Amino acid sequence: MKGKGLLLAGSAFLAIGIIGLALFGSGIVPLPFVGNTPAEQGAWIFRTGADPGGQPIPYSSGMMMRASCSGCHGVDGRGLRTPMFVSPNITYSNLTNPTGMLEPDGARGPTYTDGQIRRAVTQGIDAEGRSLAWPMPRWRLTDGEWNNLLAYLKTLP
Ligand code: HEC
Repeated sequence: MKGKGLLLAGSAFLAIGIIGLALFGSGIVPLPFVGNTPAEQGAWIFRTGADPGGQPIPYSSGMMMRASCSGCHGVDGRGLRTPMFVSPNITYSNLTNPTGMLEPDGARGPTYTDGQIRRAVTQGIDAEGRSLAWPMPRWRLTDGEWNNLLAYLKTLP
């Protein structure tokens, strides 16, 4: 019967999914699509909020439902408008723009240095020393993770 066949196929698919997740979770099988360059590793952090081994990067504060940079700043990093928050364009070229970063409201903000971007991401303090609004989490990144993430931000057009 057609219906039964579909059901069987569905169950098999589900089983493969569960086994796959278990293997990834246990670290036996490496997570797919993570390259070896710093920017590729940084892209992974940007999109998943996890380190390349699959462990979520710890963060405090922030909005719990969205746990990756891309979830809040968009896959292109250019910022999003949602009913809950408006997030800025965090491409490297925007943050370090010598005339000041372009804010979501069209105003010019501060010009970030690399160290100040790191402080914003890990401590939630902007380039002028002000506390960033609550939706932005404070990420506990290792030196290596930060360097990879920065390398990726630099590749965003
Ligand atoms: C839950 C949503 C959320 C997530 C996840 C998030 N951000 Fe943000 N981020 C924001 C919001 C909203 C702001 C603006 C805060 C403000 O204007 O005070 C912001 C601000 C920033 C700023 C400061 C820019 C400025 O306006 O001065 C940087 C840099 C930044 N985010 C980088 C990141 C990076 C890198 C990640 C991933 C590691 C990340 N964010 C994840 C929501 C988020």
